[in-house]
Amino acid sequence: MNVQEIMQQMTLEEKAAFCSGYDFWHTKAIERLGVPAVMMCDGPHGLRKQEGVGDHLGINKSIETVCYPTAAALASSFDRDVMRKLGEALGQECQAENVAMLLGPGLNIKRSPLCGRNFEYFSEDPYLAGEMGAAYVQALQGQGIAACAKHFACNNQETLRMSGSSNLDERTLREIYLPAFEAVVKKGRTRSLMCAYNAVNGTFCSENKMLLTDILRDEWQSDAFVVTDWGAIKDQAKGVAAGLDLEMPGGPNATGEEIVEAVKAGTLSEADLDKTVLRLLQFVKDSVEQRRPDAKIDREACRHLARELAGECAVLMKNEGGLLPLKEHQKVAFIGEFADKPRYQGAGSSHINVPHAVSALETAGGAVVYARGYDAHSDTTDDALLKEAVAAAKNADVAVIFAGLPDAFETEGADRDHMRLPDNQNELIAAVAAANTNTVVVLHGGSPVELPWLNQAPAVLCMYLGGEQVGAATVDLLYGKVNPSGHLAETWPIRLQDNPSYLNFPGEEGVVTYAEGIFVGYRYYDKKEMPVNFCFGHGLSYTRFEYANLTLDKDSLTDQDTLAVSVDVKNTGSAAGKAAVQLYVRDKDSTVRRPIRELRAFEKVTLQPGESKTVFFTLDKRAFAYWEPKCHDFFVESGEFIIEIGESSRDIRLSRAVQVEGTIELPFTVTVNTTIGQLLKHPKGKEIIGNMMRSSALSHVDQTDSMGEGSERMMQGMMMGIQLGALVSYGRLNRKQLKDLIATLNA
Ligand code: BGC
Repeated sequence: MNVQEIMQQMTLEEKAAFCSGYDFWHTKAIERLGVPAVMMCDGPHGLRKQEGVGDHLGINKSIETVCYPTAAALASSFDRDVMRKLGEALGQECQAENVAMLLGPGLNIKRSPLCGRNFEYFSEDPYLAGEMGAAYVQALQGQGIAACAKHFACNNQETLRMSGSSNLDERTLREIYLPAFEAVVKKGRTRSLMCAYNAVNGTFCSENKMLLTDILRDEWQSDAFVVTDWGAIKDQAKGVAAGLDLEMPGGPNATGEEIVEAVKAGTLSEADLDKTVLRLLQFVKDSVEQRRPDAKIDREACRHLARELAGECAVLMKNEGGLLPLKEHQKVAFIGEFADKPRYQGAGSSHINVPHAVSALETAGGAVVYARGYDAHSDTTDDALLKEAVAAAKNADVAVIFAGLPDAFETEGADRDHMRLPDNQNELIAAVAAANTNTVVVLHGGSPVELPWLNQAPAVLCMYLGGEQVGAATVDLLYGKVNPSGHLAETWPIRLQDNPSYLNFPGEEGVVTYAEGIFVGYRYYDKKEMPVNFCFGHGLSYTRFEYANLTLDKDSLTDQDTLAVSVDVKNTGSAAGKAAVQLYVRDKDSTVRRPIRELRAFEKVTLQPGESKTVFFTLDKRAFAYWEPKCHDFFVESGEFIIEIGESSRDIRLSRAVQVEGTIELPFTVTVNTTIGQLLKHPKGKEIIGNMMRSSALSHVDQTDSMGEGSERMMQGMMMGIQLGALVSYGRLNRKQLKDLIATLNA
């Protein structure tokens, strides 16, 4: 297939029609030119392939297959290998099912715990989301299946998701909401992106030239094609002009007449349309060439993988007195409906059709007694169920409660309106914990919840939405067959009100202002030193890890160099386990607002008892930089930075300082409104002002005596705030001198 030749043989009408899908899941074929249709399906924690007539609302069933842990769980593994294994398995399954592209991964940042789709997203941290996403994309595409990174960009809530505008400043966009996409584009080389429904600063993503062309194609150098989210099109011609390629779902009657008209009217250049057509043809060509018609899928092996991955993702949040793992001789009660009918995935377009989800109860078999405890479809306490549960807890050595968010709470299309568990579950946990001090709470759900009973429960194990094998994996973890090694990819605040987006979520009249700026998740909680239930990166193990010998290959570097970091980690406990070594960077003397620390590298390491390994990291400019709107680029401010190694954002074990010198000089335009303080921060300004001060042009009349205590500081403060223009009124310079001074400073 020669895409150039095919494109040249296409009429304007054929090109325009090719920019829309044929139906819900297929591109259009161009039979006369031998271009076949290819299929795309939802994912990405399983394959949602609808056979027969596709329908978006899930009325028609998709094929029965395996459901893996959702992204919220996967990110907690802090393990790129987990993502690779998932990407490979799904890639093979897509080959076996003749699917060319699997929609996902979802890379949107968890701005608020209330976002209904948080279970489909990785993290509140863009670096972690980007690394996990890129590892998955590489593995999936390694099997010849295109990934489609979504939803580009700033789709951080479901309320008014199709029509709202996410409004934010340039620095926040670049530091928080784009880097995960950037990583998946640059590192993962994703073959496709899905533009979000919403607008960013008033321009719909499907028509957003800044996102689709200036950033994606020109800056990130991507040749990926962009598909709309299903039905996100507003004006297709405008979209194509902005860099959009494919409208989905379209339909056989979607002829692209807007495109034809725009080309004829000269508002869309045919050259731009050709670029779009070429990108789409390239996608089809690659899919045809990488197709493996003889591929087979072993679903039994996939189920084993789903169980293994769910075990890697779970987070042991709390384990007082070593209550977990459970001991063989203990009498154990499993309490709560989710022990029998686990909650393992969220609702919406990612919903996987699973023949059977494995429960903890069936896995544990006769080893435990069971009490239902609550009705998962209700919020109110059923006294009989409660009584039975308390009795079971009293009779047991350990009570394990299976709690979490019911299905209806977490879905695409709607946000949660509070962060609480249903009342009946909270009441049950409090009552059981009062009856048995050895109470373990196992949590299911795609997002944090408030934990009002936390002080009463000595152990908490979070499974997130762990896929169809979640029950089996839970038993593996509870009994110590698998050692927990997950770490939180998001902060668990105490109350919803503590969340930085609280006052601006979900916005008003279709506009949501990201007023908290870059202070999302731990960047906010840690800066405010706010108590939280569990901080970012937190996760316990049945063993202990010690860190030593943090080494940097240099004491100072410029932002053009890289810094090699190594650290030894040792398993000092008695069980084999996995450490998630987290590297944070702290800008010690920044003059702009920055978070206390930011995750810049991580590695998962397997260690036998007593074993020690050295972990290596390489940091480049981006590890030290912030986005500087003055130069529209990532910028390193010269100064001291601290390299920190920790087990969470609040458990830093080792740190070392390094001097980094920025090599970019910021543009600095002096006007009559520039203050002395601002000038002093600029090398040239500092020199000139220094001279003026010495020559007394700026020395103030000494009034300190008459102005009371602290007047020295006050004069200093006032001086720094004086703008250049005022020097004329103060009689320190005449107009001509002022003009000359400004000209010299700007020269
Ligand atoms: C969702 C996408 C999904 C698409 C196709 C949309 O409503 O936002 O994530 O891939 O539908 O089902």
